[in-house]
Amino acid sequence: VHDRTGAAGGTAAEVCAAPLRRADLHASVSDPALDTMNFLNEVTARHPGAISFAPGRPYDGFFDVEQVFGYLRGYLDHLKALGHAPEVIRDHLFQYGPTAGRIRELIAETLRRDEGVDVPAEAVVVTVGAQEAMLLAVRALITGPSDVLLVSSPCYVGITGVARLLDVTLGTVEEAPAGLRCADVEAAVLAERGAGRRPRAFYLVPDHNNPLGTTVPEATRRELLDLAADLDILILEDTPYRLVGSERRLPTLKALDRGRRVVHLGSFSKTLFPGARVGYAVADQEVDDGRGGRGLLAAELTKIKSMVTVNTPPLSQAVVAGMLLAAGGQTTGHTQRSSAYYRRTMSATLHELERHLPAERQRELGVRWNRPDGGFFLSLQVPFRADDAALARSAEDFGVLWTPMSYFHPAGGGENAIRLSTSYLSDADIVEGIARLVRFVEAEAARTQKGQPTW
Ligand SMILES: Cc1ncc(COP(=O)(O)O)c(C=O)c1O
Repeated sequence: VHDRTGAAGGTAAEVCAAPLRRADLHASVSDPALDTMNFLNEVTARHPGAISFAPGRPYDGFFDVEQVFGYLRGYLDHLKALGHAPEVIRDHLFQYGPTAGRIRELIAETLRRDEGVDVPAEAVVVTVGAQEAMLLAVRALITGPSDVLLVSSPCYVGITGVARLLDVTLGTVEEAPAGLRCADVEAAVLAERGAGRRPRAFYLVPDHNNPLGTTVPEATRRELLDLAADLDILILEDTPYRLVGSERRLPTLKALDRGRRVVHLGSFSKTLFPGARVGYAVADQEVDDGRGGRGLLAAELTKIKSMVTVNTPPLSQAVVAGMLLAAGGQTTGHTQRSSAYYRRTMSATLHELERHLPAERQRELGVRWNRPDGGFFLSLQVPFRADDAALARSAEDFGVLWTPMSYFHPAGGGENAIRLSTSYLSDADIVEGIARLVRFVEAEAARTQKGQPTW
């Protein structure tokens, strides 16, 4: 307690405020969902020599600083060729831009070429990564506590985080060992309705899912669309790993969508580069304004965006546009080399796992994993509790890092599974890293068998 002149000799305004209490801040900052990666980052910093299957980042061997200038130049030349005056071109880089983005035509064109998705440019909102696209879509669709966002679980921490930030009620549909089941989605929708809530949308990552690495088969995609129509819900389709995955690509839900049920979320982070922070939402759903007017959901997302990031940085959009133009308006022009690389690192990881743990040894230990044919992730079931303490032992005693699957389960679960990311490592690190991982798994399995609890 100070008098107005300040007991410590300063004026009252100079006396430091007592620390704020985290409990007085928005509940999201105390939520473990927003802090999941912190422990992992700490362990990584403490063990710089460890081989890490944790980070879901693109391999940086594909990045070349000089190319950024070339792409930027390419985009400016393109604007000039379109007949824009020098002042207009200057403003394209230096000024605030339209909230929905400057490169939506180009993205719509790219979607037609890469994916056979045919939407007007007005249905596209260019966002600061897919992360912002999720935030806009969830903010627009969820009106209050009686609305629910359903997510396929385990799920990406970014969508859980958005729900926490916006105080959105989350419902989970657990992915079965054999994959996502429409019957489970239906049951979740009906259960929410039974409890008096309104499920608005179902979020999923159909291709090379983060964290599981699974891909939803085409028949299930079609079934999901039918179900969405029957139950009158929307689907949020998040697609960052599509073009860095399998050679046999299945159609996106959006490409199969005849009833405008799918809000499609895209990202250039894994296909071009994450530092650009450019993604997009495709929202071609009609919105009735209640006064006889009709517009697209994209226009409503744009209003929200104007109060979140104002616009996606024009410089970033320009570089992304230059990259797309350089590849003939296709993202796939840039992903052939990288997707082949990721297929190879995934297959090398699977090969090393099989080599150390042949079928019989897998059964003895109680270890299983899935076998994605591309993308960044796979998941490993283990016979012990794969929590932070196990991760610390893994780093300390075996020099190998991974991500606990429980981080990705918003409603609990995944205690006996780990996520392995294969995107970022060299061949030599994969060979050594899997050898270390197997030694760690065997040691933990032995501890558990001896009845020493691992938690
Ligand atoms: C499933 C999923 N969605 C979205 C994102 C975020 O993408 P962006 O970098 O475009 O925000 C990621 C990034 O790891 C992801 O794994």
